[in-house]
Amino acid sequence: MSPSRQAIRSISITKNTFKPPFVPLVADTGFAGAIGNTPLLKLPRISASVGRNIYAKAEYMNPGGSIKDRAALYVVKDAEEKGLIGPGGTVVEGTAGNTGIGLAHICRARGYQCVIYMPNTQSQAKMDTLRLLGAEVHPVPVVPFSDPMNFNHQAKRHAEQMDNAVWTDQFDNLANRQAHLETTGPEIWAQLDGKVDAFTCATGTGGTFAGITHYLKNISNGNTMCVLADPPGAAIYSFIKTGELKSEGSSFTEGIGQGRITNNLGADLDLVDDAIQVPDEDSIVMAYRLLDEEGLYIGGTGGLNVAAAVKVAQDLPEGSNVVTLLPDSAHKYVHKMFSKSFLKDKGLYDAIPDHLKKYAILD
Ligand SMILES: Cc1ncc(COP(=O)(O)O)c(C=O)c1O
Repeated sequence: MSPSRQAIRSISITKNTFKPPFVPLVADTGFAGAIGNTPLLKLPRISASVGRNIYAKAEYMNPGGSIKDRAALYVVKDAEEKGLIGPGGTVVEGTAGNTGIGLAHICRARGYQCVIYMPNTQSQAKMDTLRLLGAEVHPVPVVPFSDPMNFNHQAKRHAEQMDNAVWTDQFDNLANRQAHLETTGPEIWAQLDGKVDAFTCATGTGGTFAGITHYLKNISNGNTMCVLADPPGAAIYSFIKTGELKSEGSSFTEGIGQGRITNNLGADLDLVDDAIQVPDEDSIVMAYRLLDEEGLYIGGTGGLNVAAAVKVAQDLPEGSNVVTLLPDSAHKYVHKMFSKSFLKDKGLYDAIPDHLKKYAILD
């Protein structure tokens, strides 16, 4: 027998030790084809600490780095299908950043121009990334939705003044929710073979929460419990609890915290079982725990989502499966989340347990 055949024999494996290798998705359509199909991570140590299984979808693994790639693709496809944009056209959007980043990638890949209006409170890293991706960025002062100078209304007017331009309207365009109804929800159900006892996440446009909730409620015959999680400063928690849109305070998290019922959220509000409010202290501590205990480097909304999942899990029977999302990584937020002075300024530094303070390495 030749030496090479002998080598093959010696590494041959028996049937019961064989594990199929992970075969990467082939994305024939490039960037767009690589969106979605993210892993669902069990968080072993956080699960053990609560006696229930906490699963989180690794949405930071989308090719543009966040969950919002899914919505960006769907709103662009929607505009194309409706004939609202043609070759060489312009996509205009109002966004806290991540949808803009997804849109900027898709626009480059499809030959469109991209114009972004965003609140000037968002991280510099997001604005830099958008500009690097060729988008025209307009950071504008934060004003309520009722003000005509709100970033969304400015984006709408910009598109109206141009030929072959579309305002993709992620907040009220149901194509956003559809992305999660057709992709994220079914992925979660398939990944846990239908054993999804509860789902929770925070909302910005509401597309993620509503689309997944709609899918899970339908496929589980109403059995999956769906809980909306709000940061301080958002009004949806109060709306679900009391019927009144009321908010108090503010949050270090970016991209979530809604003050009105968007079309995306409103479409499925009747399916929501409950709402919880997660204080910033819990969100930042969970982001640090994810790093320390699970080796995951996750942005503030992921910290909030996992803190919410733990809260929901505590009221469910032992061994229940609770699902949430890790919308993006911490890279864009380092100068907030890991800065002592920022955290002290926000009154969050003292909330971090002593053994985790070593991660706040920036001044
Ligand atoms: C980091 C992050 N998490 C969560 C969300 C909320 O997602 P949705 O707009 O689908 O409610 C966003 C939205 O921009 C986001 O950027």
